[in-house]
Amino acid sequence: MPAVLPPAPGPAILPLALVDRAAVEALLDVAFGPDRHKRTAYRLRAGVDWIAALSFAAVRDGGLLGSVQCWPVALYSTGDTPDGTTDATVTPLTLLGPVAVDPAHQAGGLGKRLTRAAIHAVIEAHAPPPMLIGDPGYYGRFGFTALPTAGWDLPGPFERHRLLVLPLPDMPLPATGMIGPDVGSHARNALSRARDFASRARIA
Ligand SMILES: CC(C)(COP(=O)(O)OP(=O)(O)OC[C@H]1O[C@@H](n2cnc3c(N)ncnc32)[C@H](O)[C@@H]1OP(=O)(O)O)[C@@H](O)C(=O)NCCC(=O)NCCS
Repeated sequence: MPAVLPPAPGPAILPLALVDRAAVEALLDVAFGPDRHKRTAYRLRAGVDWIAALSFAAVRDGGLLGSVQCWPVALYSTGDTPDGTTDATVTPLTLLGPVAVDPAHQAGGLGKRLTRAAIHAVIEAHAPPPMLIGDPGYYGRFGFTALPTAGWDLPGPFERHRLLVLPLPDMPLPATGMIGPDVGSHARNALSRARDFASRARIA
């Protein structure tokens, strides 16, 4: 009777914090090219660090095959009130991405596993709704849609149909606003955080 061999181990999805940061940067260089830092998505996360509990790696035999990172961002909305003052709301969001898979291992399901792991972690942690700049053909399958983002703006060039959000129950999404890093402490009021961000966006 032939020996029954255990199935070949597939890549494991692990917390990204277990992986060497230099390896993650090298993977991102390969997946997105050396110009990746010029992308508008990088302006959304300037000055903040990725969220360890929501970021994952695909690893096999000690090698990094893929990664997904999540970052704290916010939708900054300002508007005039009937009494002539300026009001502001800061709606926290979770920037999901980049999702990157080593070219030699693409189209094998790793991108989907990593994206699902991040979405699952966001939901389990009751973290803010995930948003990203990406291909609707790929991210639509997870529930991402551009419909709620029609009035949103970014501090850099972007294609509107690629600005996507995954709406979550009981987490309303404002119709308008500018997305930026959520560097503000919750102790500071929304208006000063929105103004700080607006002045930084003008400088950039
Ligand atoms: C995009 C990426 C993350 C997908 O991961 P992957 O492991 O290669 O792909 P998966 O095996 O999970 O998914 C394959 C499916 O995605 C589709 N797909 C892959 N890349 C796509 C893209 N850029 N746009 C639309 N669909 C895409 C494939 O056609 C396939 O569709 P199917 O399931 O209907 O057959 C990966 O190819 C990658 O790292 N690309 C370079 C970096 C990048 O563009 N990242 C995304 C922007 S944040």
